[in-house]
Amino acid sequence: MSRNVVPDAAAGEISVRRALAQCGLVPVDAQVLLAHALGVDRAWLVAHATDPLPRERAGAFFDLAKRRRDGEPVAYLVGRREFHGLDLRVTPAVLVPRPETETLVDVALERLPRDRPVDVADLGTGSGAIALAIASARPLARVLATDVSQDALAVARGNAARLGLSNVAFAPGDWYAALAPDAGAFDLVAANPPYVAADDAHLSEGDLRFEPAQALTPGGDGLDALRTIVAGARSHLRAGGWLAVEHGFDQSDAVRALFAEAGFEAVEVRRDLAGIPRVVAGRNLNLGSEP
Ligand SMILES: C[S@@+](CC[C@H](N)C(=O)[O-])C[C@H]1O[C@@H](n2cnc3c(N)ncnc32)[C@H](O)[C@@H]1O
Repeated sequence: MSRNVVPDAAAGEISVRRALAQCGLVPVDAQVLLAHALGVDRAWLVAHATDPLPRERAGAFFDLAKRRRDGEPVAYLVGRREFHGLDLRVTPAVLVPRPETETLVDVALERLPRDRPVDVADLGTGSGAIALAIASARPLARVLATDVSQDALAVARGNAARLGLSNVAFAPGDWYAALAPDAGAFDLVAANPPYVAADDAHLSEGDLRFEPAQALTPGGDGLDALRTIVAGARSHLRAGGWLAVEHGFDQSDAVRALFAEAGFEAVEVRRDLAGIPRVVAGRNLNLGSEP
């Protein structure tokens, strides 16, 4: 890209480098927002650090920077987030997909063969992150993505269409109630449900203030959605099928106990990249209690 992409005609006094330094944001946020305001990528900013910014682009950037300083997630400001190698559109109707949820996708993919069709459900799909990452990595899989929020499902459907993933279907509804009576059994059910306790102070701090409450907390001690999902899973799983769920940083023991209580076997706890126990997976091996 040429140096003149930032036109000199309307130039203000501030350079790319000074704008980044003066906006009051951590460097990565500043770079993502300035690249967005200019319609360039982050590498371009490095190569053009001394270019002057056009006045209206500088204004747009400093407006975005203020909204970020006030707490709005970068992903909402730019309308997208990368997840498991996919470029997802996100809006304030959906949780911003988190890096730790990529661990849940990895755990699911380890349990899904590449060479034959499998049936997968992603309960509480939000932007579609988990469902679409699985559908992309396992083209033979038939993935059902559900959510109680129609607005979230609209975002997820849009992402599937944009990514050209036709092996994903969508259904609205409350956890297992979203599954049609004739939906049959699944080889794997994945869920990253709301799991923050209702009295957790983080809900009224930082980025979380801008995300849908329904996506963050089920109320109470934060475990109610996980209780429902774990207790109901085996009647929707094939013999040998898997349930894999994400949970909060301090919920691993409680969630493992829920899996044991529900009769799951081969239960594994997986840590995320920060070393925090984050995912529990278990297998429906007891053929006697199959649906
Ligand atoms: C933590 S977000 C996860 C979103 C997405 N799966 C991800 O990992 O980025 C939880 C999702 O569950 C949905 N949800 C909340 N309560 C639900 C319910 N009772 N039944 C189905 N989905 C629900 C929310 O709308 C939200 O999209």
